[in-house]
Amino acid sequence: MSAQPIRSERLILRRWREADLAPFAAMNADPLTMRFMPGVMTAAESEALMGRFEAHHRLHGFGVWAVEVPGVAPFAGFIGLQRVGFEAPFTPAVEIGWRLAPAFWGKGCATEGAKAALRTGFEDLNLDQIVSFTVAANKPSWSVMERLGMTRDLGGDFDHPRLPVGHQLRRHVLYRISRRS
Ligand SMILES: CC(C)(COP(=O)(O)OP(=O)(O)OC[C@H]1O[C@@H](n2cnc3c(N)ncnc32)[C@H](O)[C@@H]1OP(=O)(O)O)[C@@H](O)C(=O)NCCC(=O)NCCS
Repeated sequence: MSAQPIRSERLILRRWREADLAPFAAMNADPLTMRFMPGVMTAAESEALMGRFEAHHRLHGFGVWAVEVPGVAPFAGFIGLQRVGFEAPFTPAVEIGWRLAPAFWGKGCATEGAKAALRTGFEDLNLDQIVSFTVAANKPSWSVMERLGMTRDLGGDFDHPRLPVGHQLRRHVLYRISRRS
C-alpha cells in the first residue's frame, strides 16, 4: 500500500488537497496542455476527476498523485498509477500516466516522478507489469515512456473505446514495463 507521499530528488507525489483544485482546473482548461486529449475540461469536470482519483486511492491503496515541487509550487500536475478503466486486449492492467502544467515541462520532472511511481508499483504494490498508452502524435508522452525503459508493444496498438469511431485521437500506442526488466 502507498498511503505515504512518494519523494524523489525534486518532487513529492502526494494525495490530493482541496487547494489543488484551482491549479488542477487551470491546467485542464489549457488548450496547449490538452492538445492530445479530446478537449479541455470545465472546472466541474476537473473537480469530478479529482474525486475519482481520490476514490481510486481509497479503493485500491494507490492511484494518481498530485505533484508538488517543494519550494517552487504546491501543485505542478499529476503522475500516477491506476487500473485501466475500460476493456481492451491488454486489460485488466495498471497504467502509469502524467500531466504537468507547461511551466514544468522540459525539466525532467515527468520522468523523475514517474520513475518513483514505477518503483512504488513494483516494490511496494508488487505489480508484475505496468502499461502506458498515448496517441502516436504525443511524442512528449511516449518519450517519457522510453526514458523510463518502457517498451513499445508493436502488436499492441488499439482504438481507445471511449472515443468515437473515426475520431483522430482514437488510435493509441501501447508501452509495457515488467518488474524484472
Ligand atoms: C507528457 C509530459 C508530462 C512530458 O513532459 P516533458 O517535460 O517533455 O518530459 P520530462 O519531464 O521527462 O522532461 C524531459 C525533457 O526535459 C529535459 N531536461 C531538462 N533538464 C532536465 C533534468 N534535470 N533532468 C532530466 N531531463 C531534463 C530533457 O532533455 C527533455 O527535453 P526534450 O524533450 O527536449 O528532450 C508533458 O508534455 C505534458 O504534461 N503534456 C500534457 C499532458 C499529456 O499529454 N499527458 C500524457 C497523456 S498520454
